[in-house]
Amino acid sequence: MVKLTPPMGWNSWNTFGNNINEQLIFETADAFVREDLPAKGYEYLVIDDCWSLKERDASDRLVADPAKFPHGMKAVADYVHSKGLKFGMYSCAGNLTCAGYPGSFEHEFIDAETFASWGVDFLKYDYCYHSPIIHGKYLYGRMGLALDNCGRDILLSACSWGADETHEWIRTTGASMWRSTGDIFDTWQSVKDLTKQQERLHPFNGVGCFNDMDMLIVGMYGNGNVGLAGCSDTQYKTHFSIWAFMGSPLMIGCDIRNMTETTKKILTNEELIRIDQDPACRQPFKLTGIWCGDDILIYAKHLADGDLAIGLFNLSDQKSSARFNLDEVGLPHSTGRTLSMTELWTGEKVTVVNSTFSKELDAYDCAVYRAEVVKRA
Ligand code: GLA
Repeated sequence: MVKLTPPMGWNSWNTFGNNINEQLIFETADAFVREDLPAKGYEYLVIDDCWSLKERDASDRLVADPAKFPHGMKAVADYVHSKGLKFGMYSCAGNLTCAGYPGSFEHEFIDAETFASWGVDFLKYDYCYHSPIIHGKYLYGRMGLALDNCGRDILLSACSWGADETHEWIRTTGASMWRSTGDIFDTWQSVKDLTKQQERLHPFNGVGCFNDMDMLIVGMYGNGNVGLAGCSDTQYKTHFSIWAFMGSPLMIGCDIRNMTETTKKILTNEELIRIDQDPACRQPFKLTGIWCGDDILIYAKHLADGDLAIGLFNLSDQKSSARFNLDEVGLPHSTGRTLSMTELWTGEKVTVVNSTFSKELDAYDCAVYRAEVVKRA
Protein backbone atom coordinates (compact mmCIF):
# COMPACT_ATOMS: atom_id res chain seq x y z
CA MET A 1 0.00 0.00 0.00
CA VAL A 2 1.34 3.44 -0.85
CA LYS A 3 -0.28 6.03 1.38
CA LEU A 4 -0.23 9.41 -0.30
CA THR A 5 -1.12 11.56 2.71
CA PRO A 6 -0.83 11.06 6.49
CA PRO A 7 -3.32 8.52 7.90
CA MET A 8 -6.14 9.89 10.08
CA GLY A 9 -8.32 8.14 12.63
CA TRP A 10 -8.79 7.25 16.30
CA ASN A 11 -6.82 5.00 18.65
CA SER A 12 -7.95 3.54 21.96
CA TRP A 13 -4.70 3.87 23.95
CA ASN A 14 -4.57 7.47 25.16
CA THR A 15 -7.93 7.40 26.90
CA PHE A 16 -8.77 3.74 27.44
CA GLY A 17 -5.50 1.79 27.83
CA ASN A 18 -6.42 -1.67 29.10
CA ASN A 19 -10.04 -0.69 29.54
CA ILE A 20 -11.31 -1.70 26.08
CA ASN A 21 -14.16 -3.88 24.89
CA GLU A 22 -16.47 -4.35 21.93
CA GLN A 23 -19.15 -2.06 23.33
CA LEU A 24 -16.66 0.79 23.42
CA ILE A 25 -15.59 0.09 19.85
CA PHE A 26 -19.18 -0.12 18.60
CA GLU A 27 -20.08 3.13 20.34
CA THR A 28 -16.93 4.80 19.03
CA ALA A 29 -17.78 3.70 15.49
CA ASP A 30 -21.28 5.16 15.96
CA ALA A 31 -19.78 8.40 17.27
CA PHE A 32 -17.47 8.64 14.25
CA VAL A 33 -20.51 8.73 12.01
CA ARG A 34 -22.67 10.89 14.28
CA GLU A 35 -19.91 13.50 14.55
CA ASP A 36 -19.30 13.33 10.79
CA LEU A 37 -15.59 12.62 11.29
CA PRO A 38 -15.18 10.64 8.02
CA ALA A 39 -16.18 13.75 6.06
CA LYS A 40 -13.18 15.51 7.64
CA GLY A 41 -10.80 12.70 6.66
CA TYR A 42 -10.78 10.50 9.77
CA GLU A 43 -11.10 6.88 8.63
CA TYR A 44 -9.20 4.36 10.80
CA LEU A 45 -10.59 3.10 14.10
CA VAL A 46 -7.69 1.39 15.88
CA ILE A 47 -7.71 -0.91 18.91
CA ASP A 48 -4.34 -0.61 20.69
CA ASP A 49 -2.70 -2.96 23.21
CA CYS A 50 -4.57 -5.28 25.67
CA TRP A 51 -7.13 -6.84 23.31
CA SER A 52 -5.90 -10.49 23.44
CA LEU A 53 -5.64 -13.33 25.88
CA LYS A 54 -2.23 -13.84 27.49
CA GLU A 55 -1.82 -17.20 25.73
CA ARG A 56 -2.03 -18.24 22.08
CA ASP A 57 -4.39 -21.12 21.18
CA ALA A 58 -3.39 -24.73 20.35
CA SER A 59 -2.61 -23.74 16.75
CA ASP A 60 -0.42 -20.86 17.92
CA ARG A 61 -2.88 -18.14 16.94
CA LEU A 62 -3.61 -14.97 18.86
CA VAL A 63 -7.00 -15.03 20.58
CA ALA A 64 -9.19 -12.01 21.27
CA ASP A 65 -10.11 -11.88 24.96
CA PRO A 66 -13.69 -13.25 25.05
CA ALA A 67 -14.49 -11.22 28.16
CA LYS A 68 -13.74 -8.00 26.25
CA PHE A 69 -14.77 -9.11 22.75
CA PRO A 70 -17.43 -11.83 23.23
CA HIS A 71 -18.39 -11.90 19.55
CA GLY A 72 -14.78 -12.16 18.35
CA MET A 73 -12.71 -9.69 16.36
CA LYS A 74 -14.25 -10.47 12.99
CA ALA A 75 -17.60 -9.23 14.33
CA VAL A 76 -15.93 -6.03 15.56
CA ALA A 77 -14.26 -5.50 12.17
CA ASP A 78 -17.56 -6.13 10.39
CA TYR A 79 -19.31 -3.54 12.54
CA VAL A 80 -16.58 -0.96 11.95
CA HIS A 81 -16.70 -1.65 8.21
CA SER A 82 -20.49 -1.40 8.18
CA LYS A 83 -20.07 2.22 9.28
CA GLY A 84 -17.81 2.90 6.29
CA LEU A 85 -14.65 2.98 8.46
CA LYS A 86 -11.41 1.03 8.38
CA PHE A 87 -10.37 -1.21 11.23
CA GLY A 88 -6.96 -1.17 12.94
CA MET A 89 -5.31 -3.45 15.48
CA TYR A 90 -2.07 -3.67 17.43
CA SER A 91 0.79 -6.09 17.95
CA CYS A 92 4.48 -5.93 18.75
CA ALA A 93 7.82 -6.93 17.22
CA GLY A 94 8.91 -8.41 20.56
CA ASN A 95 7.91 -11.54 22.47
CA LEU A 96 5.41 -9.48 24.42
CA THR A 97 3.52 -6.29 23.77
CA CYS A 98 4.35 -3.29 25.94
CA ALA A 99 1.51 -4.23 28.30
CA GLY A 100 2.64 -7.88 28.49
CA TYR A 101 0.34 -9.63 25.99
CA PRO A 102 1.78 -12.01 23.36
CA GLY A 103 3.82 -10.22 20.69
CA SER A 104 4.35 -11.33 17.09
CA PHE A 105 8.07 -12.18 17.25
CA GLU A 106 8.58 -15.37 15.24
CA HIS A 107 4.83 -15.46 14.60
CA GLU A 108 4.80 -12.70 11.98
CA PHE A 109 3.25 -14.66 9.12
CA ILE A 110 0.66 -16.53 11.17
CA ASP A 111 -0.39 -13.29 12.89
CA ALA A 112 -0.60 -11.39 9.61
CA GLU A 113 -2.89 -14.17 8.35
CA THR A 114 -5.03 -13.94 11.48
CA PHE A 115 -5.38 -10.17 11.12
CA ALA A 116 -6.28 -10.57 7.44
CA SER A 117 -8.90 -13.21 8.28
CA TRP A 118 -10.55 -10.83 10.73
CA GLY A 119 -10.63 -7.99 8.20
CA VAL A 120 -7.96 -5.75 9.70
CA ASP A 121 -6.85 -2.77 7.56
CA PHE A 122 -4.13 -1.24 9.75
CA LEU A 123 -1.57 -2.73 12.12
CA LYS A 124 0.22 -0.66 14.75
CA TYR A 125 3.41 -2.58 15.49
CA ASP A 126 5.24 -1.79 18.73
CA TYR A 127 8.85 -2.40 19.82
CA CYS A 128 8.78 -3.56 23.46
CA TYR A 129 10.59 -6.75 24.48
CA HIS A 130 12.30 -7.05 21.11
CA SER A 131 15.33 -9.23 20.54
CA PRO A 132 18.55 -7.58 21.65
CA ILE A 133 20.45 -9.20 18.78
CA ILE A 134 18.10 -8.88 15.81
CA HIS A 135 18.02 -5.32 14.53
CA GLY A 136 14.73 -3.47 14.26
CA LYS A 137 15.04 -3.21 10.49
CA TYR A 138 14.75 -7.01 10.25
CA LEU A 139 11.91 -7.22 12.75
CA TYR A 140 9.82 -4.56 11.01
CA GLY A 141 10.90 -5.91 7.61
CA ARG A 142 9.55 -9.34 8.52
CA MET A 143 6.16 -8.01 9.48
CA GLY A 144 6.11 -5.77 6.39
CA LEU A 145 6.74 -8.82 4.23
CA ALA A 146 4.17 -10.88 6.12
CA LEU A 147 1.52 -8.18 5.62
CA ASP A 148 2.37 -7.86 1.93
CA ASN A 149 1.72 -11.61 1.64
CA CYS A 150 -1.37 -11.98 3.79
CA GLY A 151 -3.91 -11.46 1.03
CA ARG A 152 -5.27 -8.18 2.40
CA ASP A 153 -4.16 -4.57 2.12
CA ILE A 154 -3.01 -3.82 5.68
CA LEU A 155 -1.22 -0.57 6.49
CA LEU A 156 1.86 -1.03 8.69
CA SER A 157 2.17 1.62 11.38
CA ALA A 158 5.59 1.17 13.00
CA CYS A 159 5.94 2.18 16.62
CA SER A 160 9.64 2.00 17.52
CA TRP A 161 9.65 5.54 18.99
CA GLY A 162 12.53 6.61 16.71
CA ALA A 163 14.83 4.11 18.44
CA ASP A 164 17.84 2.62 16.67
CA GLU A 165 17.81 5.47 14.12
CA THR A 166 14.45 4.26 12.78
CA HIS A 167 14.45 7.00 10.14
CA GLU A 168 17.44 5.38 8.40
CA TRP A 169 15.71 2.08 7.64
CA ILE A 170 11.97 2.35 8.17
CA ARG A 171 11.18 2.90 4.48
CA THR A 172 12.79 -0.46 3.65
CA THR A 173 10.16 -2.28 5.71
CA GLY A 174 6.98 -1.26 3.91
CA ALA A 175 5.70 0.83 6.83
CA SER A 176 3.43 3.75 5.92
CA MET A 177 4.05 5.66 9.15
CA TRP A 178 6.54 5.41 11.98
CA ARG A 179 6.57 6.79 15.50
CA SER A 180 9.29 9.40 15.43
CA THR A 181 9.05 10.29 19.13
CA GLY A 182 8.51 8.72 22.55
CA ASP A 183 5.04 8.41 24.06
CA ILE A 184 2.80 11.43 24.43
CA PHE A 185 1.16 12.34 27.75
CA ASP A 186 -1.64 14.78 28.36
CA THR A 187 0.54 17.69 29.47
CA TRP A 188 1.84 20.82 27.80
CA GLN A 189 5.42 19.77 28.57
CA SER A 190 4.91 16.59 26.58
CA VAL A 191 3.64 18.56 23.56
CA LYS A 192 6.66 20.86 23.78
CA ASP A 193 9.12 17.99 24.11
CA LEU A 194 7.71 16.04 21.17
CA THR A 195 7.65 19.18 19.02
CA LYS A 196 11.31 19.85 19.68
CA GLN A 197 12.39 16.20 19.35
CA GLN A 198 10.78 16.18 15.94
CA GLU A 199 12.86 19.01 14.48
CA ARG A 200 15.81 16.94 13.33
CA LEU A 201 13.49 14.37 11.77
CA HIS A 202 11.53 16.65 9.42
CA PRO A 203 13.67 15.68 6.40
CA PHE A 204 12.45 12.09 6.72
CA ASN A 205 8.74 12.81 6.43
CA GLY A 206 7.17 12.41 3.02
CA VAL A 207 4.70 10.69 0.71
CA GLY A 208 4.44 6.97 1.45
CA CYS A 209 5.88 6.97 4.98
CA PHE A 210 4.97 9.63 7.51
CA ASN A 211 6.60 10.73 10.76
CA ASP A 212 4.10 9.94 13.47
CA MET A 213 4.37 12.36 16.39
CA ASP A 214 1.97 10.11 18.38
CA MET A 215 -1.75 10.13 18.99
CA LEU A 216 -3.45 13.43 19.77
CA ILE A 217 -4.30 14.39 23.33
CA VAL A 218 -6.81 17.06 22.23
CA GLY A 219 -9.92 16.89 24.38
CA MET A 220 -8.57 14.58 27.10
CA TYR A 221 -8.50 17.27 29.82
CA GLY A 222 -6.40 15.05 32.10
CA ASN A 223 -8.76 12.05 31.92
CA GLY A 224 -7.85 8.54 30.90
CA ASN A 225 -4.81 6.38 30.45
CA VAL A 226 -2.19 9.00 29.53
CA GLY A 227 -4.11 11.83 31.17
CA LEU A 228 -1.92 13.65 33.68
CA ALA A 229 -2.31 17.34 34.35
CA GLY A 230 -4.28 17.88 31.13
CA CYS A 231 -4.08 20.95 28.93
CA SER A 232 -6.15 24.06 28.26
CA ASP A 233 -8.13 24.52 25.05
CA THR A 234 -5.52 26.98 23.80
CA GLN A 235 -2.80 24.39 24.36
CA TYR A 236 -4.84 21.72 22.57
CA LYS A 237 -5.39 24.09 19.66
CA THR A 238 -1.63 24.72 19.37
CA HIS A 239 -0.85 21.00 19.76
CA PHE A 240 -3.24 20.12 16.93
CA SER A 241 -1.87 22.94 14.79
CA ILE A 242 1.71 21.73 15.19
CA TRP A 243 0.84 18.11 14.38
CA ALA A 244 -1.10 19.19 11.29
CA PHE A 245 1.56 21.64 10.20
CA MET A 246 4.29 19.01 10.50
CA GLY A 247 2.29 16.53 8.39
CA SER A 248 1.93 13.97 11.18
CA PRO A 249 -0.77 11.30 11.05
CA LEU A 250 -3.77 12.64 12.98
CA MET A 251 -5.00 9.90 15.30
CA ILE A 252 -7.55 11.18 17.79
CA GLY A 253 -6.94 9.99 21.37
CA CYS A 254 -9.88 11.37 23.34
CA ASP A 255 -13.29 9.79 23.94
CA ILE A 256 -15.15 10.88 20.81
CA ARG A 257 -18.48 9.75 22.28
CA ASN A 258 -18.40 12.79 24.57
CA MET A 259 -16.48 15.58 22.88
CA THR A 260 -16.96 19.19 23.94
CA GLU A 261 -17.83 21.65 21.20
CA THR A 262 -14.33 23.12 21.44
CA THR A 263 -12.67 19.72 21.14
CA LYS A 264 -14.71 18.98 18.07
CA LYS A 265 -13.91 22.38 16.58
CA ILE A 266 -10.21 21.80 17.06
CA LEU A 267 -10.20 18.28 15.65
CA THR A 268 -12.26 19.19 12.61
CA ASN A 269 -10.62 22.42 11.49
CA GLU A 270 -10.83 21.80 7.76
CA GLU A 271 -8.12 24.25 6.77
CA LEU A 272 -5.60 22.80 9.23
CA ILE A 273 -6.48 19.30 8.03
CA ARG A 274 -5.96 20.53 4.46
CA ILE A 275 -2.42 21.58 5.40
CA ASP A 276 -1.79 18.19 7.02
CA GLN A 277 -3.15 16.43 3.94
CA ASP A 278 -1.51 18.71 1.37
CA PRO A 279 -0.77 16.47 -1.64
CA ALA A 280 2.86 17.59 -1.93
CA CYS A 281 3.65 16.52 1.68
CA ARG A 282 6.69 18.81 1.67
CA GLN A 283 8.84 19.25 4.70
CA PRO A 284 8.40 22.41 6.79
CA PHE A 285 11.35 24.75 7.26
CA LYS A 286 12.16 26.72 10.35
CA LEU A 287 12.47 30.50 10.22
CA THR A 288 14.96 32.32 12.39
CA GLY A 289 12.46 35.08 13.00
CA ILE A 290 13.34 38.42 14.54
CA TRP A 291 14.05 38.66 18.27
CA CYS A 292 12.29 35.39 18.92
CA GLY A 293 13.35 33.28 21.89
CA ASP A 294 13.63 29.49 21.92
CA ASP A 295 9.96 29.04 22.66
CA ILE A 296 8.61 30.98 19.71
CA LEU A 297 8.70 28.64 16.77
CA ILE A 298 8.06 29.89 13.26
CA TYR A 299 7.71 27.41 10.43
CA ALA A 300 6.80 27.67 6.77
CA LYS A 301 5.92 25.04 4.21
CA HIS A 302 5.43 25.15 0.44
CA LEU A 303 1.99 23.80 -0.47
CA ALA A 304 1.08 22.00 -3.67
CA ASP A 305 -0.94 24.89 -5.14
CA GLY A 306 1.83 27.50 -4.72
CA ASP A 307 0.59 28.87 -1.41
CA LEU A 308 2.73 28.88 1.70
CA ALA A 309 1.63 27.62 5.09
CA ILE A 310 3.11 29.75 7.85
CA GLY A 311 2.82 28.71 11.49
CA LEU A 312 3.68 30.91 14.46
CA PHE A 313 3.71 28.87 17.67
CA ASN A 314 4.18 30.37 21.11
CA LEU A 315 5.30 27.49 23.33
CA SER A 316 6.07 29.83 26.23
CA ASP A 317 3.87 30.78 29.17
CA GLN A 318 4.03 34.50 28.32
CA LYS A 319 2.41 36.73 25.76
CA SER A 320 5.03 37.23 23.04
CA SER A 321 5.43 38.57 19.52
CA ALA A 322 6.42 36.37 16.62
CA ARG A 323 8.12 38.27 13.79
CA PHE A 324 9.71 37.25 10.56
CA ASN A 325 11.06 38.81 7.45
CA LEU A 326 9.65 37.93 4.03
CA ASP A 327 13.21 37.23 2.83
CA GLU A 328 13.11 34.08 4.89
CA VAL A 329 10.24 32.65 2.86
CA GLY A 330 11.82 33.51 -0.46
CA LEU A 331 10.19 36.89 -1.02
CA PRO A 332 12.76 39.70 -0.79
CA HIS A 333 11.58 43.08 -2.12
CA SER A 334 13.26 42.37 -5.47
CA THR A 335 10.62 39.74 -6.28
CA GLY A 336 7.87 42.38 -6.33
CA ARG A 337 5.70 39.93 -4.42
CA THR A 338 4.21 39.79 -0.97
CA LEU A 339 1.82 37.57 0.98
CA SER A 340 -1.92 37.73 1.31
CA MET A 341 -2.52 35.68 4.41
CA THR A 342 -5.60 34.06 5.97
CA GLU A 343 -5.44 32.86 9.57
CA LEU A 344 -6.97 29.41 9.74
CA TRP A 345 -8.59 29.59 13.21
CA THR A 346 -10.11 33.06 13.01
CA GLY A 347 -10.44 33.63 9.26
CA GLU A 348 -8.67 36.99 9.73
CA LYS A 349 -7.09 38.25 6.51
CA VAL A 350 -4.01 40.40 6.18
CA THR A 351 -1.72 41.45 3.34
CA VAL A 352 1.87 42.12 4.34
CA VAL A 353 2.72 45.70 3.31
CA ASN A 354 6.35 46.03 4.26
CA SER A 355 8.99 43.33 4.57
CA THR A 356 8.27 42.26 8.12
CA PHE A 357 5.30 40.45 9.57
CA SER A 358 4.61 40.53 13.27
CA LYS A 359 1.89 38.92 15.34
CA GLU A 360 1.30 39.07 19.07
CA LEU A 361 0.42 35.67 20.52
CA ASP A 362 -1.03 34.87 23.93
CA ALA A 363 0.78 32.34 26.11
CA TYR A 364 0.65 28.87 24.48
CA ASP A 365 -1.25 30.22 21.49
CA CYS A 366 -0.54 30.04 17.79
CA ALA A 367 -1.52 31.56 14.48
CA VAL A 368 -1.45 29.46 11.32
CA TYR A 369 -1.80 31.09 7.93
CA ARG A 370 -2.42 29.97 4.43
CA ALA A 371 -0.58 32.61 2.45
CA GLU A 372 -1.03 33.41 -1.21
CA VAL A 373 1.88 34.93 -3.11
CA VAL A 374 0.58 38.18 -4.69
CA LYS A 375 2.02 41.19 -6.52
CA ARG A 376 2.91 44.13 -4.31
CA ALA A 377 0.51 47.04 -4.62
C1 GLA B 1 3.88 1.81 23.76
C2 GLA B 1 3.41 2.67 22.61
C3 GLA B 1 2.08 3.31 22.96
C4 GLA B 1 1.06 2.23 23.27
C5 GLA B 1 1.56 1.33 24.38
C6 GLA B 1 0.68 0.11 24.59
O1 GLA B 1 4.20 2.56 24.90
O2 GLA B 1 4.37 3.65 22.29
O3 GLA B 1 1.62 4.13 21.89
O4 GLA B 1 0.79 1.48 22.11
O5 GLA B 1 2.88 0.86 24.09
O6 GLA B 1 1.14 -0.72 25.61
